[in-house]
Parts: sequence; C-alpha cells; structure tokens
Amino acid sequence: MKTPKQFVIRGGRPLHGEVEISGAKNAVVAILPATLLSDEPCIIENVPEISDVDISLRILRELGAKVRYLSPHTYEIDTREVMSYTVPYESARKMRASYYFMGALLGRFGHCRVSMPGGCPLGDRPIDQHLKAFKKLGAIAKVERGMVDITTPESGLQGTQIFFDCVTVGATMNAILAAVKAEGLTVIENAAKEPHIVDLASFLNSMGADIMGAGTDTIKIRGTKYLRGTSYAVIPDQIEAGTYMVAAAATGGNVLVKNVIPKHLESIINVMEKIGVKIEQFDDAVRVSADGPLVKTSIKTRPHPGFPTDMQPQISALLCLAEGTSMIKEGVSEQRFQYVDELRRMGADIQVDGKVAVIEGTGHLTGAPVKACDLRAGAALMIAGLAASGVTTIEDIYHIERGYADMEGKLRALGACIEKKTVCQDAVQHDVIVRQDAV
Ligand code: EPU
Repeated sequence: MKTPKQFVIRGGRPLHGEVEISGAKNAVVAILPATLLSDEPCIIENVPEISDVDISLRILRELGAKVRYLSPHTYEIDTREVMSYTVPYESARKMRASYYFMGALLGRFGHCRVSMPGGCPLGDRPIDQHLKAFKKLGAIAKVERGMVDITTPESGLQGTQIFFDCVTVGATMNAILAAVKAEGLTVIENAAKEPHIVDLASFLNSMGADIMGAGTDTIKIRGTKYLRGTSYAVIPDQIEAGTYMVAAAATGGNVLVKNVIPKHLESIINVMEKIGVKIEQFDDAVRVSADGPLVKTSIKTRPHPGFPTDMQPQISALLCLAEGTSMIKEGVSEQRFQYVDELRRMGADIQVDGKVAVIEGTGHLTGAPVKACDLRAGAALMIAGLAASGVTTIEDIYHIERGYADMEGKLRALGACIEKKTVCQDAVQHDVIVRQDAV
C-alpha cells in the first residue's frame, strides 16, 4: 500500500507569475489506448505527468505494448506485438477512462474483455450508450461478473448509424475508436463536442483515419484498414487551465496562464468575467487578475460549449468569496456536490438541494483539515486553501494527482506556501502528526 500524502497550505497569499498548462487528461487517456489501432509505432508528445497516464501506460504494457520514454512528456508506443485483449479488474478499476480500451481493442481485434471501469465517485455512471454503439456496429456484448465481454461475428464490425440517447463524452470517443476500422461509413448523431473529442479525431486522422465533423453533433467515420504510425502532441488541458485561472482570482492575484487554447476556455472566461475577474486573452495564453470585489452569479453546467461540470467545484470555491447569493445548477453529473461538506468546514455557506447549490458568499474562508473526495473536489479545496486565512491540510490527494501534473510545484512557483507531506502511520490512526516528506 502506498504511504498516504497530504497537502499543507498556508493560505492568504495572492498568486503571481506564470504557469504552464500540461496536456489534457481527458484527451490523452483516449489517445494512449488509440495507439492500439495503429499498425506502426506512434510518438505522443505533451503527455501530462499524472497518475491516470501511468495507469494507461501500465495497461498498454500489460497488453504487450512496448512503451519507451523519449524525453519529458514524450513517449513512443509500439503496439504491434500486442496479443491480449483483456484488461482485468485490478487495472481497470483504477480509472474511469479504462473504458477506452474497449473501443480500441474492439477496433484492433474485434474482441475485448475489459473490467467495468472505476474512477471518481460521481454517482451512477452507466456505460449503456457505449454498449449501444458497439452493438450497432455489429458486436455482441455481455457483462458478466464485472467483465464486459465483447465479440464480433466473422464479418467484422460494420459501419452504421448511431444515435446517442444522451450527450456522452465517453461513448462518443468509444464509438469513434471502434468505428475507425469498421467496414464502411459510420454516422454518430447527438455526439459530444468537447475539445478532447476533436483531439482524438485529429490524432486518428494523422494516422490515416477518415473522421469528419468532430466538434459538431454529427461525426462521420469512413472505416480504414491500415493506420500508420504518427507523431502527435496532445492539446492543453482546458480544465487544468480553468483551475489555475480560478486560483489566481480567488487569491486576488495576477497570473499568466500559458500553453492554452483560449477558444476552449470561452465558457469559463465568460463566467469569471461576470464574477468580476479581469481576463486578457492572447494567442496561447490568458492573463487573469482580480483586484476588485467578486460578485455573485448563476451558472448551469452543460456539455461543451457550455460551462463544464469539471469546473463546477472550483467555481463554487470562488463564489464563496464573492458578495451575494449565487446559484449553481449541475446539468451533467449526478453527484457533484460531495465537496460541499468539506468547504463548509472552511466556513462556506452552501445549501444543496438535489442538483442545485445555493452559495451565500461570505467573502472569506478559514483554513481547516479537509479531504478530497474526487479529482475536481480536490482542486476546489486547493483553491479554497490558497485563498483561506490560516492552514488547510488536504487528505486523499491521490485524487488530485490523477489529473493535475505537479500541482504543488506549479503553485509554489506562483508564490503559494504549499507542501506535500507524508502522513505518519501513527497520524493516520490518531489524525494528528504529519512529517516532512523525505523524498
Ligand atoms: N451517461 C449515460 N450512459 C452512458 C454514458 C453516460 O447515461 O453510457 C450519462 C452519465 O451518467 C452522465 C452523462 O451521461 O450523466 C455524461 O457522461 P459522459 O459519458 O459525458 O461522462 P464520462 O465519459 O463518464 C467524461 C470525463 C469526465 C467529465 C464528463 C463530462 C473522461 C475520462 N471523463 O466522463 O471527467 O466530467 O466526461 O464532461 O473523459 C474529470 O475529468 O474530473 C471527469 C470526471
């Protein structure tokens, strides 16, 4: 078992300086499995150093791929000798995105056995739409003892029309992965439009796939027999960028957030401007500053291009510091208010009723011991801790490390007083002492 770690933040210091955004988690976790579809090695650049990437690379190795580290953030992946199409529970349970191995292995072999995915506890997260897409392509899918077992008749996967009953990122990406080597034309309707869907399609097209319309709600894929190797850089992480933007605003700082695609940040920028944050846009950077009062607002999360559910907890932390009553309606995830109890420990006044949270801005938060219950909840607590007076300790930071590359180092470079500490085994039991991480 890994030694538990915690972040200790001494809050109340405005963030200043520049921060470089890493590659997008939700793009790379699909692009790495997609290398299984290539008939030659691929080089993937701008790979973020996060634990979800470690898990994806481990699964690729377990399947028989050769993974070579070339330079910081760059890997060569050669899947030519992969013979296995099974991803067992032990590997799949560690992250939600392990479901992309279903589409990729199905596209590669016409078969796969992948355990039901794990990931953030955000309520019931079914995969019925993924299975619907695979079945429409001609596969036979059954779920038994937690394993999803998918086979294809001898004729192979056949192009088809897929209409999703809800807008789903995962099922859209999985349908693309499976359809790319199917016979003939596949048309996906009511597709999700997130930037990572466009990125997956661009990656596959750079291997010789024929995918049109990614980023709109209708995607057309003409199946291709041979996909060549490619060299491809993952897009910057829209949510990591948004998180640093909110952190800058919450601390009353002034930060240049670099290596971003401002177009991907439009809905976040609009909301932050309404709250009273100043944002300047450049070609591949945004400058965020907040020296005036923050004001209330109302937000509903929606699929892209709407305000992302993955930014909802972070913006709630900011709204705790604003004047007036704000309202947040969660329009995507089922349970995304689990962080509220932790923010309350820091003095937040938030009432939740079903999918709606009402935030009474108190203008101030105070440091407290809190626990990250999922990735973005952890990010919200980091922001709250940076803005709060006093010391905040955040436990279960492995959630944060799933999706944020070196958050501690990046924040420290911006002037934050933050340390990652190893929790003493005694302290785990007695909940008191922490000691400096020796590593
Ligand atoms: N849904 C179904 N059936 C399905 C698939 C989805 O009913 O077969 C429902 C879900 O229950 C949910 C809605 O559709 O209510 C949207 O789910 P979606 O499939 O879009 O989400 P996901 O693929 O499970 C991805 C991201 C999440 C992000 C959501 C929404 C990855 C690996 N995960 O999840 O990212 O919140 O899209 O944008 O890409 C995160 O990064 O913190 C994170 C949780």
